[in-house]
Parts: sequence; structure tokens; C-alpha cells
Amino acid sequence: MKISNKDFPLLFVLTFFMSIQKISNATDTITTTQILRDGETMVSSDGSFELGFFSPENSKNRYVGMWYKKITVSTVVWVANREVPLTNTSGVLKVVDPGLLVLLNDTNGGIIWSSNTSRHVKTPVAKLLDSGNLVVKDANDDDPGNFLWESFNYLTDTLLSGMKLGWNYKTGLEVYLSSWKNKDDPSSGDFTYHFDPTGYPQIVVKRGSVVQYKSGPWNGLHFSGTPNLRKNLFYKYGVVLNKNEAYFTYELLDRSIISRVTLSESGVSQPLTWVDRTQRWEVDIIHPTEICDIYRLCGAYGSCNIAKSPVCGCLDRFLPKDPEGWKRADWSSGCVRRTSLNCKNGDVFLKYSGIKLPDTQYSLFNQSMTLEECKVLCLKNCSCTAYTDLDISKGGSGCLLWFEDLANIKLVPEEQYIYIRMASSELELKRKKREILVLSLSLSMGMVLLGLSLMLYLRKRKKSNHRLREGDPMGSALFDWPKRFQIINGIARGLMYLHQDSRLRIIHRDLKASNILLDSDMNPKISDFGMARSFGGNETGANTSYMSPEYAVDGIFSVKSDVFSFGVLLLEIVSGKRNRGFSHRDHHHNLLGHVNVHKHDYQFDA
Ligand SMILES: *[C@@H]1O[C@H](CO)[C@@H](O)[C@H](O)[C@H]1NC(C)=O
Ligand SMILES: *[C@@H]1O[C@H](CO)[C@@H](O)[C@H](O)[C@H]1NC(C)=O
Ligand SMILES: *[C@@H]1O[C@H](CO)[C@@H](O)[C@H](O)[C@H]1NC(C)=O
Ligand SMILES: *[C@@H]1O[C@H](CO)[C@@H](O)[C@H](O)[C@H]1NC(C)=O
Ligand SMILES: *[C@@H]1O[C@H](CO)[C@@H](O)[C@H](O)[C@H]1NC(C)=O
Repeated sequence: MKISNKDFPLLFVLTFFMSIQKISNATDTITTTQILRDGETMVSSDGSFELGFFSPENSKNRYVGMWYKKITVSTVVWVANREVPLTNTSGVLKVVDPGLLVLLNDTNGGIIWSSNTSRHVKTPVAKLLDSGNLVVKDANDDDPGNFLWESFNYLTDTLLSGMKLGWNYKTGLEVYLSSWKNKDDPSSGDFTYHFDPTGYPQIVVKRGSVVQYKSGPWNGLHFSGTPNLRKNLFYKYGVVLNKNEAYFTYELLDRSIISRVTLSESGVSQPLTWVDRTQRWEVDIIHPTEICDIYRLCGAYGSCNIAKSPVCGCLDRFLPKDPEGWKRADWSSGCVRRTSLNCKNGDVFLKYSGIKLPDTQYSLFNQSMTLEECKVLCLKNCSCTAYTDLDISKGGSGCLLWFEDLANIKLVPEEQYIYIRMASSELELKRKKREILVLSLSLSMGMVLLGLSLMLYLRKRKKSNHRLREGDPMGSALFDWPKRFQIINGIARGLMYLHQDSRLRIIHRDLKASNILLDSDMNPKISDFGMARSFGGNETGANTSYMSPEYAVDGIFSVKSDVFSFGVLLLEIVSGKRNRGFSHRDHHHNLLGHVNVHKHDYQFDA
């Protein structure tokens, strides 16, 4: 249609009147004598937020909602009647006694939506504050503590600066985000976003009642799994925990910045900042962001590393609980300690760094304890699995304890640490790696008896004047009978240590003359742990090379196999003969070759 000059004045007049009406509507407050109709809006006093009726992009439904007034892209941050849409523009918003804000269907006066209060005041009004909080209060009382109702307690999918995400223990009310169904339907979608203080606070994203993501506990600076949120010039954020409330909140440092956190319909939370230059919302960072953010992906004591394939591994000193499942990339069963805990024998703690702290749902904490007190407390309780600082912001303070299997761990590029409980033998093992050959442990009773009977036997042989063969190393002058006894005794002690005293049972599997080293004092040391394996309890294992009969037949080796080898070794030493079944390694200075001072630093990996 062409607009002729004749039409123009009318058009101008219409626009003029419409703008007059708009200006007169630009109030931040409605009283019991006013109504807000579809097409009219309330605007906060500084012009930041606007409240009125709207329809989502591809929908004809009408909703009462709130959006940013100053930006060009329509961005709804709150919806009142998200579950009960109006089907046409007949809705009206009004304040009624004793202090309720109600959305009515003007056609028949039916209540579509209402605020909620247990108190009433003389002159109730609804006011849209500059923060984006729509409140119902007494006209003459601005004390936030006396508000009858506020939209900040009933969030939709958006967290604004100043909102308190979490719990008010006095009212029992939880403030949380819930996603829109989709961009055309603001009704509650699949996902919710909570500040969960159970145990120790974490952000939790749920789909229905199923946990999808946990941020890791608050550590004084940020949530453990989100170190990248740490330094930010635009806003500061924090956690408040006291007997009345527990919440997360953030505050924009520059009021001219427009920023919000939303929970998308697919369950990701994203802080967004409006950029004037591009006229767009720019995403800072999203969570969950990677496969490692999936709740408990790697199971208990599993650790997720996005840079690795597969992403799941066990924490150091832990092994997959179900190796078969693990191979199939089903990591849910997680990992178990290599050495199981035995609280009675005293446990130790090992420091693990650079990880997102495990789920704290069953944790306990104390804000005033030192780390040392924390350790003592954890040690006292056999079900305490780990501890760490509660707050790392000021050099570390407080105490955080875990009582369950540790899960939801991933690697993070940050010096965050936790002390995980270990059997003390696990550490001993490490130490013994170097010292294992220094066999200074007390002789066990069985070995004493064996030693004594051997001694008697040797004396008898000496008396019978049995001669050792010339040229045989065992027959050299260095090996008089007491020396031989000393050597046998030493080997027995060594084996005893490996099999019994060492808490982690070690089966040498290759005990032979060539693997026995002698020092200058003729103290024997068992060497060459290349084939050694460690086992818990009475476990046995199968392997490829061995010497004892039952191994030859069944392919099973056990402590017995080492004892068999020890027997053969005994016969060798006593008889001065070399068993043909044993190999000789020339480069070793050992029982079969020259006797020399021999220093070795043997390591083996159990
Ligand atoms: C408003 O009232 C009319 C007439 O009773 C009804 O048809 C319509 O569905 C109502 N709207 C809502 C959103 O309840
Ligand atoms: C709204 O719809 C109802 C029926 O659903 C109708 O009775 C009423 O007249 C409509 N109001 C307006 C303002 O169109
Ligand atoms: C209103 O308050 C009552 C009691 O405090 C509560 O049970 C109810 O769920 C509330 N309703 C809404 C819509 O908040
Ligand atoms: C926290 O630890 C301190 C020091 O050990 C103790 O005095 C206090 O009672 C503890 N607080 C709680 C809540 O357990
Ligand atoms: C250990 O701590 C757990 C969790 O607080 C508690 O339930 C249990 O009673 C404690 N056990 C002992 C022996 O103190």
C-alpha cells in the first residue's frame, strides 16, 4: 500500500498517541487500583528491565515476562505463567488484597497465575526493581526482609546478578533454575540447575531426578571442576553458608555490563555477556562442556583425562575393578585400591594433585580446623577415605572429609589436591623397592627351626668329613660351613620377608643361585625381581616361565614355587653342586661365580 501525503498526518498522530501511552505506562510500580493489560509494560526506574506480555518466537501464546529494556535482541529473563499460557491478549495483571500479584483472564476473571504469601500488608504494591527483581511489598516499606514475595525466589532459566541460587533454611525454599522446554515454550523443560549444599556445596545439573553433572565442591575460589571461571574482571562470585541460608551468587562489577547465566534446553549452563559492538550475546564458557564432565563417568577412583584415549583411567595405585568392562569402555564400576585398606594396621595418606575434587555429597566439613587436625580426624574413622583443605583462597584453611568411594574426578590444569587414604604397606612397598635386598628383618619362627635343623645337618656332614669338590665355587675357602649356614639363613630370611612380612605378598618366581648376591660380609641378597609379582592374600597367578613341579604341570605359581626353588638352592649350597636346571649368568657376581662386594640398587614394579 502506498502512503499518500494525505494519509501522513493521521499516521503521525497515531504514532504520537501511542508513544504518549507508552511513556505514561513506563512505571515501575502497580497498585491495587491499577491494572497492567497486554501491550502495557512496567519498566524499572533505571530502565534496565521491562515487564509485560510477550509471545515466544513461533508461538501465539501470551506470557507475562521480563526482558532487558536496553538491548535490541529480545531476551526474556523471567516468566510468570510459564506453565499456564494465555491463549489471547485478554490477560490482565493486578495486585489484590491482602498482597498478591495475580494474572487474570479478563474474559471471565479466572486466575491464571498468582504470587504467594502468608502475610498481608495495608497498601500492597508490585514493583520492578533495577536488579530485575519483581517484588510484592508494602508501598511504604523498602526493606527486602519484609517483601511479601519476590520473583528472585522463583526463577526460570536465568540467573541474574544478585540472585541467590540455593537454599533458605528458614522458609525451606530452594531457588534453582529450570530450563525452557524449547525456545517457543517457556514451560519447565528437562533440566534443572541447583546449588546443592548436601555434604559440601556443588553445582548440580539434573535431568528429571537424574544427576547429569556436578561441578565439584566450592574451594573458596571457584567450584573445583571449573578453574577457568576463576579470574574474571567483570564479576565476582561467591558462596554463602550459614545456618539460615546456603547459596551461590554473583555480582557484576560494572553496572553498565549486561550479563546473565542461563540453563539451555539441552542442560548446559552458560554465562553470556551482551556485546554492543556485535549486538550479540557472547558465550564465556559453558558447563558441562566435555565428556569428562559427565557425572561419575569413570566410576569410583577413576579419573577422566580429555587428552587421553580412552578418557578414563584409574588414579595412581588403583586398578580397574572390572577389567573386562573397562576394556569395553564401561568405566562405571571404577577402580579399587591395589592394596586394600586395613584400618587396624594404620593407614597413610597420599597426595593427589591437579584433579577436580570428588563428589562431596556425603562429605563433612569444619571451617576452623587445620589441615593437620583434619588428617588426624580422618585417620580416626576407618570409613574416612580422603581429606583436604576446605578453602584454598587464603593459603588453605578448614577441613573437608570424604566418607565414600571417591568419584567424579577429572584432571584439571590446576594445583588442587586431595589426600587419599592408603594402606601403609602400599607406601612401604615403595620404600622397599630400594631396600628390599637389605634383609634385616627378624627371623620368623619357622625359619629359625629350618635354620637350626640345617645347622645340625651341616655339623653332622662336617663331622663325617665330607669333602667339597675342588674348583667348585661352593667349595672355595670362603665357604666354610658357618658361612654356608649364614648364607642359607640369609636367603631364608629374605624369602620370608617377601612372602610374609611384606604386607604385599611378593613371589620371586626366579629364585636360583645366580640371583643370590653376597656382600663383603657374606650376607646374601636376593636379586633380580624381573619376574616377581605381588599378590593379595592366598592369591596365585598363572605365568609362562617357572620351575616348580606344580608350575610345570598346572602353570600356577605360588609361594610354594619359591619354597621349592629354595629347597633346590639349599641342596646346591649344602652339596656344593650346581643343579643343571639352573642357568648361570656370567655377568653376575653370585653364588656360582666369584664372591665379591656387590652393591645393587634393585627396583621392581609390583
Ligand atoms: C480465558 O477465559 C475464556 C472464557 O472462559 C477461556 O475460553 C480461555 O481458555 C481462558 N484462557 C485461559 C488461558 O485460561
Ligand atoms: C480470548 O479468547 C476467549 C476464548 O478463548 C474469548 O472468549 C475472548 O473474547 C478472547 N479475548 C480477546 C480479547 O480476544
Ligand atoms: C504457596 O505457599 C504454600 C505454603 O507456603 C506452598 O505450599 C505453595 O507451594 C506455594 N505456592 C507457590 C505457587 O509458590
Ligand atoms: C570444628 O573444629 C574445631 C577445632 O577442632 C572444634 O572446636 C569445633 O567444635 C568443630 N566444629 C564443628 C561444627 O564440628
Ligand atoms: C565415621 O564417620 C561416619 C560419617 O560421619 C559416621 O557415620 C561413623 O559413625 C563414624 N565412625 C566412627 C567409628 O566414628
